Amino acid sequence: MRTVWTFHSATELIFGPNACADLGDAARRHGLRRVFVVTDPVVLQAGCIDPVHAALSQDGIEVEIFAGGEPEPSLKAAEKAIEAGRAFGPDAVLGLGGGSNLDLSKMVAVVLRHGGAPRDYVGENKVPGPVLPLICVPTTAGTGSEVSAATVLTDTDNQIKVGILSNFLRPLIALVDPLLTLTCPPKVTADSGIDALTHAVEAYTAVDNAHFPLPPGERSVYQGRNPFGDMIAEQAIELVGRFLRRAVKDGQDHEARKGMALAAVLGGLAFSNVGVAAVHALEYPVGGAVHCSHGAGNGLLLPYVMRFNQPACQPQLARIAALLGEDVSGLDDAAAADRAVAAVERLRADIGIPLRLRDLGVREDQLRTFAEKAIKIQRVLRVNPRPTTTDDLEGILRAAF
Ligand SMILES: NC(=O)c1ccc[n+]([C@@H]2O[C@H](COP(=O)([O-])OP(=O)(O)OC[C@H]3O[C@@H](n4cnc5c(N)ncnc54)[C@H](O)[C@@H]3O)[C@@H](O)[C@H]2O)c1
Ligand SMILES: [Fe+2]
Repeated sequence: MRTVWTFHSATELIFGPNACADLGDAARRHGLRRVFVVTDPVVLQAGCIDPVHAALSQDGIEVEIFAGGEPEPSLKAAEKAIEAGRAFGPDAVLGLGGGSNLDLSKMVAVVLRHGGAPRDYVGENKVPGPVLPLICVPTTAGTGSEVSAATVLTDTDNQIKVGILSNFLRPLIALVDPLLTLTCPPKVTADSGIDALTHAVEAYTAVDNAHFPLPPGERSVYQGRNPFGDMIAEQAIELVGRFLRRAVKDGQDHEARKGMALAAVLGGLAFSNVGVAAVHALEYPVGGAVHCSHGAGNGLLLPYVMRFNQPACQPQLARIAALLGEDVSGLDDAAAADRAVAAVERLRADIGIPLRLRDLGVREDQLRTFAEKAIKIQRVLRVNPRPTTTDDLEGILRAAF
């Protein structure tokens, strides 16, 4: 029985409104002089670059901006970012944007240090050592990529999302300034916010560390549930329950934006040590085929997977209901767990997440292929509390169709 677990994070977390002002100082403390910024045109247009650029320039740091990021970035987009980065020759890479740009920046930091191409690193523990110093500055509240060990890119040739998983991908500095998320439109707020909830729920309901089914001789970034992960995931779930609706309804609600920024970091810390599970395994082929946002795909699938997993994690689901603000007094675990699923369904509807796969443009004849692709993602599926077969996965997709 495995009873040892570890916990990893970004080396330094700087959190709070106006945290951007501390960026130059933080970079200088780490001896960084030439910073390659990876962002995208929408984030530039929203003005998120201004406080970042001002803080770095004020401290005499040279900055080159690459704005070729795109949502759910492809391996090809990563190659372009790498090419631009190589031409500049930075001593650090800064990702500014949603998870898409942060993930691109991580890929640049890997390849500029270790060579090769993005595809060489797909899978787990393929990054051979420390990467170029990474600073991640999220402008959405959701993915937790600023503290996570993952990069997710889209393999357009094979129509699937691919993951690169390594503790070397954790940034040196995660700088989380909730003010940067004020310009997120409601859809981006909703989609990224429910991704944070999915991270926390999948971590909180994961298989226990003591029973984590790791094949002999394999190492895994994900390790199953442990007390530290539980504590963090509980906080994240509660924050999403309190603040996500508010942030979607009124983008200028500073308290809600701050609450969601914290929820995203906590969700990232929980999932990137404990693991994500069947929701993410199913979203990878769905998102790869229909190009929905990662958050919309996850949010859609989350209650269906919770219902499938219920026999294996009823007490945890019961607690999730309470964390989401449901009145569970007098209910047994089974009834309270039902409330958790209902609460997520209601939240999903309230913030405008699509309710059925067909609403995303999925065709029924694609479901089996999605299940066959998902079953191969064992690094994620082995985190799921209830073991899954291809038929099980197809069943979940059919229920969600
Ligand atoms: N590495 C990880 O640990 C991890 C975890 C979960 C998800 N992901 C990946 O992250 C990606 C999704 O990231 P996301 O949900 O943050 O969305 P995103 O980065 O794809 O951004 C969505 C859209 O919102 C825009 N946007 C971002 N910030 C904005 C702002 N402040 N104002 C206005 N517009 C803004 C972007 O330009 C983009 O058009 C997916 O590719 C997903 O697979 C990675
Ligand atoms: Fe996610």
